[in-house]
Amino acid sequence: MTEIRQIVLAKRPEGDVTADCFRAETAASPVLADGQILVRTLFLSLDPYMRPRMTELNSYVPAFELGKPLTGGAVGEVVETRNPRFAKGDIVNGLLNWATHTLHDGRGLRKIDATGVPLSAHLGVLGMPSFTAWYGIKHICKPKAGETVFVSAATGAVGQVAGQLAKLAGATVVGCAGDEEKCQWAVREAGYDACFNHRTERDYGAVLDKLCPKGIDADFENAGGRIFHAVFARMNDFGRIAFCGAISEYQDKEPIAGPTKMFTIVQRRLNLQGFIISDHVALMGDFVNEVGGLLKQGKLKARETVIDGLANAPQAFMGLLKGENFGKLVVKV
Ligand SMILES: NC(=O)c1ccc[n+]([C@@H]2O[C@H](COP(=O)([O-])OP(=O)(O)OC[C@H]3O[C@@H](n4cnc5c(N)ncnc54)[C@H](OP(=O)(O)O)[C@@H]3O)[C@@H](O)[C@H]2O)c1
Repeated sequence: MTEIRQIVLAKRPEGDVTADCFRAETAASPVLADGQILVRTLFLSLDPYMRPRMTELNSYVPAFELGKPLTGGAVGEVVETRNPRFAKGDIVNGLLNWATHTLHDGRGLRKIDATGVPLSAHLGVLGMPSFTAWYGIKHICKPKAGETVFVSAATGAVGQVAGQLAKLAGATVVGCAGDEEKCQWAVREAGYDACFNHRTERDYGAVLDKLCPKGIDADFENAGGRIFHAVFARMNDFGRIAFCGAISEYQDKEPIAGPTKMFTIVQRRLNLQGFIISDHVALMGDFVNEVGGLLKQGKLKARETVIDGLANAPQAFMGLLKGENFGKLVVKV
C-alpha cells in the first residue's frame, strides 16, 4: 500500500514566509477511479511565483488553499493507471502536489522523453523558466547587436537564459546577482559583460551609469523594486522592458511606490510589457526547437541547485526568496 507524504499550506504568510506556513502530513493510499492515474514525484520545481500564490487571492493563478498540498511544476512517473492515455512507467511533466504521490486525471500532464537530458532540465533550461526567458527576450526585448540589455536576478533560472540569449543576439549584457560567486559565474560562464552584486552595492544608479555608459535599450525585469527604479531612469529612446517578475517585492507587507517620473515612458517612447508565460504555450514548440538546439550545440550554460528530499522543500523555498539558490531550484523527491 502506498502511503503519501505531502506538505500542505498551514497558514498564509504575512511578510516573510516562515516555517509554520507549512505542515507535513501523511495521507492514505488512494483508490483510483476510472480515468485516474497515480504519479510518483521525481523532481519538484520551486519557483518565486509560489510566494504570491500563498497570499494573493485575486491573481492570474488561483491561490493555494489552506490545509491542501501546495502544487508546482514537477516531473513524475506514472505508477498506477486507470487512464488509457497513460501507461505504467510513463514519465510526465506538469503540475503535481508537493507530495510523494499525486492522484491525477491526467489533464495538463505531458509525457516526456526521459532520455537525452537529465529529468530536472525539463523544469529549468528546457522548461517553464527558460521558456519565459526566451519569450521575453525574443518577443519583447528584441535585442540587436550594439544595444545594451540589463537582466536582474541574472543567474536565476530565468535570468541566466535571458542573459545568454541577449548575448547571442549580439548585445552588451549587464546583470545583477546576490553574491560575488554568482556575479563571477555570470561573466565567466554565461558571457555577461558585467554583473554587479545588488546586496553589497549601495548606489544602483551610479553602478549602472558606470556599466551601461550608453544607457539601457532593453530590460529583462525579474527583481522590481529599487533595482528596477534605477534601470527605468536609464532607459534609452524606444527602449523595451519585459516585466517578468518583481521578486524583491513579493514579501513586502505593504506595496512599495513605483518609479518616479512615469512621464519617462512617453518621453523615451518605452514599451513596458508585463507577461505571463502560460499565455504563450502555443509557442512552446518553437522554444524547444531553438533553445534545445542551442543546448545541443553547447551554446547555452545551465546552472541548478538540487535539494534532496520533500521534507526540505519549505526551507529551500524560503531560501529561494532570499537568494540562497544558485540557478534553477529543484527538489529531488
Ligand atoms: N512572468 C512569468 O511568466 C514568469 C515565469 C517564471 C518566473 N517569473 C519571475 O521571474 C523572476 C525570476 O524567477 P526565477 O525562476 O528565475 O527565480 P530564481 O532566480 O531561481 O530565484 C529567485 C532569485 O531571485 C533573486 N532575488 C531574491 N530576492 C531578491 C531581491 N530582494 N532583489 C533582487 N533579487 C532577488 C535571488 O538571486 P540573487 O542571489 O541573485 O539575488 C534568487 O535566487 C521572478 O520574479 C519570477 O516571479 C515570471
